[in-house]
Amino acid sequence: MWPDKFFMRLYAAIILCFALVSTSAIDRAHAEDDPGAKQFKKSCGTCHIASLEDQKRQGPNLWKVLGRPAGVIDGFKYSENLRASGLTWDEATLDAWLTNPKKLVPGTIMSYRQRNPDKRKLVIDYLASMGRYGED
Ligand code: HEC
Repeated sequence: MWPDKFFMRLYAAIILCFALVSTSAIDRAHAEDDPGAKQFKKSCGTCHIASLEDQKRQGPNLWKVLGRPAGVIDGFKYSENLRASGLTWDEATLDAWLTNPKKLVPGTIMSYRQRNPDKRKLVIDYLASMGRYGED
């Protein structure tokens, strides 16, 4: 009798493996297709990561940046002015920031501007989709 059971288990294990491999492939495909993720990678990815896993870049990590006070990432050397800005990142402050960081916070060291409101919104919505600062 045992060989039947053995093969059933073996088949089940094989099917499970395929299922796991294909769902992770689907997850990855989704991440690549998501226009917000793409825009983030293109516009911000040279300087920022927005994850708990990737290697640090020259800008602060933007994982769950919505609801986060400006200038609080440990170990990142912010400009004096951004740290002292008293800003909290939400949809409105991020939009103003990405439109012109130096106007919102004179003396900031972020040299990047996005004039296209649709692209700003894509990136902000993408960041918002991660959840908010301090929430699990
Ligand atoms: C050329 C590199 C560069 C690019 C491109 C860039 N940033 Fe930055 N970013 C920085 C640096 C450097 C800082 C720190 C600024 C300071 O300390 O004044 C910063 C700071 C920030 C902060 C403040 C974070 C905090 O912890 O207070 C946010 C939010 C931010 N960037 C969002 C973005 C987004 C979104 C994009 C893309 C649309 C982007 N940045 C593109 C370099 C960059």
